[in-house]
Amino acid sequence: MTIFNLGSINVDLVYRVPHLPGPGETIASTSFKKGLGGKGANMSVAIARAGSRCTHIGSVGDDGQWTVDTLASAGVDTRHIHRSLPTGHAVIYVDDAGENSIVLNAGANSCVSSDVVAAALAEAKDTDTFICQNETNLQAEAAQMAHAKGLSVAYAAAPFSAEAVKAVLPYLGLLVLNEVEAEQLQTETGHPISELPVRDIVVTLGAAGCRWYRGGQRRDFAAIPVTPVDTTGAGDTFTGYLIAALDQGKPMEAAIALAGKAGALMVTRLGTAEVIPTLQEVTEAF
Ligand code: ADP
Ligand code: NA
Repeated sequence: MTIFNLGSINVDLVYRVPHLPGPGETIASTSFKKGLGGKGANMSVAIARAGSRCTHIGSVGDDGQWTVDTLASAGVDTRHIHRSLPTGHAVIYVDDAGENSIVLNAGANSCVSSDVVAAALAEAKDTDTFICQNETNLQAEAAQMAHAKGLSVAYAAAPFSAEAVKAVLPYLGLLVLNEVEAEQLQTETGHPISELPVRDIVVTLGAAGCRWYRGGQRRDFAAIPVTPVDTTGAGDTFTGYLIAALDQGKPMEAAIALAGKAGALMVTRLGTAEVIPTLQEVTEAF
């Protein structure tokens, strides 16, 4: 089966700095790295490395051919990535204490064309899955279209907006949130997470593992203990692996167990898309 991912593609510009710059301050970076990022691209890479078929739906600029090539070399189907504005990017400062600050520019991610979404989903079958993450335009429209075609629809809600979650909620079979996002959603809707009208809800808790809600029942899963190096991309790796494992027919318990291993291995690695582990690396590590 195929997982259709309407998702962001970013150029991550990562600067190591002695401290985060204050207002009016100019400082020198101690190192610089440019790489593929964006929650959408990260999840597509995770899905492909987990051994599932992934078709990425998105948009980059003429400057972004290398991001498309990087996705393709990870095994992602890139036929439905089109050209619009300059490629989205993230300027990321990381200080010596590991604290960061990030400025996002959506760029082409805000200009995904409805024709491209329709052309991609025209290829989908009712055994396929659709996912989006609130980093592109058209997600509610695409989720509705995918739902109408009978696809399983999943949503990983970050950057968090209660409005965006509410717009896709009627179509969702799976919602993945981190703890902060779950709190925000509860506050804004006034209802406990367990009462949302979505079959499966997974709340990730970092080093504390995750919680799975279905049919009013809650189950807790511990994380694999590791020494963290860089938590960037752990959530995207977890979600990509979770959806890939479900696509491959695994029951939720087994899918969460595999996703937890992939997420744990990811926090031991510095970097984002390029260091997302393969299935073989995950099964050999734990
Ligand atoms: P996000 O990056 O979206 O906030 P989390 O930090 O909750 O997501 O991480 C997602 C999943 O990755 C967790 O549920 C867990 O399985 C795994 N994970 C994250 N951090 C750690 C850690 N320090 N040790 C082990 N596993 C982790
Ligand atoms: Na990492």
